[in-house]
Amino acid sequence: MLLLDIKKSYNKLDEKSTAALKEKNMNIKRTLFFCILCAFFSLRAAGIKAGNVLKLPEVKNFGTATLKEALDKRSTSRSFSAEPLSDEELSGLLWAAAGVNRPESGKRTAPSAMNMQEIYIYVIMEKGAFLYIPGEHALEEVTRDDLRKHAGGQDFVAKAPVNLIYAADHDRMSRIKDEESRNIYAAADTGFIGQNVYLYCASRGLATVFRGYVDKEGLAKKLKLENNRKVMFAQTVGWPQ
Ligand SMILES: Cc1cc2nc3c(=O)[nH]c(=O)nc-3n(C[C@H](O)[C@H](O)[C@H](O)COP(=O)(O)O)c2cc1C
Repeated sequence: MLLLDIKKSYNKLDEKSTAALKEKNMNIKRTLFFCILCAFFSLRAAGIKAGNVLKLPEVKNFGTATLKEALDKRSTSRSFSAEPLSDEELSGLLWAAAGVNRPESGKRTAPSAMNMQEIYIYVIMEKGAFLYIPGEHALEEVTRDDLRKHAGGQDFVAKAPVNLIYAADHDRMSRIKDEESRNIYAAADTGFIGQNVYLYCASRGLATVFRGYVDKEGLAKKLKLENNRKVMFAQTVGWPQ
């Protein structure tokens, strides 16, 4: 009888400790899940998605050129050194192109028809192709392949360190029903970005050329663009040769 009682109490103890162990495991799992969730949201808040988004450094390099000086120097150049742009330079370039200049509204350095913000900028460099995300001032990796030779038909394109590809997202223009009007708005909006890039380059001593000569469909395939996103123009940027 006594032995039976002892066995029962051991069984109860066993049940209790198993339950306690289960509870402890659950707590650990909950804490882990909570930590992962916190890490995920703080990375998102910092503009870094796990794995494939690179936060650009704070924009500092704007030189001291006045608008008049930048306009005086604005020009097209097709002669590029192979020297890469620093992350700081790339950061300034992309912010000038279409960065958010009014965080309270999310509006940008370049205007866009009806504030549709339909132009996406892909950055093609030796180390890969990336999508610029203005709201996070970050680059999202598309591929680690060097796609520069697909970024245009002219010889300098494959050697220059940076090619910006401007692609219009037709879903973002869905309120405009006919395609021709969408293309007109998208071309105008791309032009503003291109001119921002020209002025940034003029102020920093960089060379640049805005280009229409590019196999748009071939490049769209290489960048794995969805059908609604169409390559409009490209712009090569680098230090002068
Ligand atoms: C819509 C557009 C498309 C262009 N396409 C090309 C191009 O494919 N290749 C090129 O070398 N230059 C291209 N350019 C650059 C022009 O040739 C250049 O702006 C023009 O010769 C005037 O020179 P500037 O920019 O120094 O004033 C293009 C310019 C614009 C505005």
